[in-house]
Amino acid sequence: MASLSNRKLLLIVTGGIAAYKTPELVRRLKDEGTEVRVVMTKGAKAFITPLTLQAVSGNPVHDDLLDPAAEAAMGHIELARWADLIVVAPASASAMARLAHGFADDLFSTLCLATDAPVALVPAMNRLMWSAPATQRNLRLLQDDGKLIWGPNEGLQACGETGAGRMLEPQEILQQIKEFFAATFSLHKEMAENAGLLAGKRVLITAGPTREAIDPVRYLSNHSSGKMGFALATAAANAGADVTLVAGPCPLPTPAGVTRIDIISAEDMHKVVAASVAQQDLFIGCAAVADFRPMNVAEQKMKKQDGQNQMQIALVKNPDILAWVAEQENAPFCVGFAAETENVQAYARKKLERKGIQMIIANDVSNPELGFNSDNNAVIAISADAEHHIGTNSKEEIAKQLITLISSKL
Ligand code: C5P
Repeated sequence: MASLSNRKLLLIVTGGIAAYKTPELVRRLKDEGTEVRVVMTKGAKAFITPLTLQAVSGNPVHDDLLDPAAEAAMGHIELARWADLIVVAPASASAMARLAHGFADDLFSTLCLATDAPVALVPAMNRLMWSAPATQRNLRLLQDDGKLIWGPNEGLQACGETGAGRMLEPQEILQQIKEFFAATFSLHKEMAENAGLLAGKRVLITAGPTREAIDPVRYLSNHSSGKMGFALATAAANAGADVTLVAGPCPLPTPAGVTRIDIISAEDMHKVVAASVAQQDLFIGCAAVADFRPMNVAEQKMKKQDGQNQMQIALVKNPDILAWVAEQENAPFCVGFAAETENVQAYARKKLERKGIQMIIANDVSNPELGFNSDNNAVIAISADAEHHIGTNSKEEIAKQLITLISSKL
């Protein structure tokens, strides 16, 4: 499990009876060597005093967006940048609603908007408030925005009722924080310094669809837009790599500083990759390569016959370019993509083994808002010994995080 020593954690306490448990959480974090700063909302101060949290955290508590003295010491933007992780505990129903809708009218909501650190919410509220349609709707919005949600537990509540809505216990929150750092090793912080992460490295990326000719005017293809592969090429070039992008037909501009080679079919792509793969440090197979191609390509446009109701096209298997690269002597570090519609992780893991590659990026393409042909994605990067979840975000942002992650493995 990752050490919490020297991690910077910003704890935001919002209004709820469970706030009385937060000094215990802060003490446990301090015992682990974590640097803790605390923000309290007005509601939180009705339940515990700032002095208590100041005493256990060893730092003054921040509670006002517009306090000139506090802003001079450590302004809200500095505080938002300082954190490796922001934990909102307890997260009241109102706090969830405000965050889901992007409010920025107090220190808590402004900080959560002004940060690129991950934000985890630890909900605590009465069971009916938790199950209310509005709260559940806000929960979905927050999840879609990539916020982490820890809990709630079920059990006896402060109001005397029993059900879902109890805040996780301090030791359970501590465990979640440890698991978070073990899984992500603070990708976000490293990304801020990723300018030279791939300096001196050579990276080959395939992107977009392939087209498999049937005759001079017809082909088999798929819906790949090429956006993810192009975003990866951009992120790798920004990280200092010498990038070659082998692109199937897609009308996207060539990223600055990237060498682009356009191809049409899987066989063309294979030839170009085979000619370029020597001395590459990293190969990312992001293209949606057609698995099969027509066995024979008609030289002239095929004509339908009078009365013809059916036709058959015999297909043959295309080379698996990624698996081919992975089996070469001195093969580069190989990363593949697995677009799945069910059992995403299990199928992706099988693919990782079958293709003999080092990492596979799995995504669920059954969601029309994500993946194929959309601007957003949500992925799980799976290697033999680890899994990193990257929540819904633009393909550009996902690409940056993936390049940061991959470069840490090279
Ligand atoms: O086997 P499947 O097509 O699901 O594997 C997807 C991964 O393999 C992607 O990374 C894709 O670029 C790569 N691939 C390939 N050549 C093929 C088929 C897939 O490089 N013929």
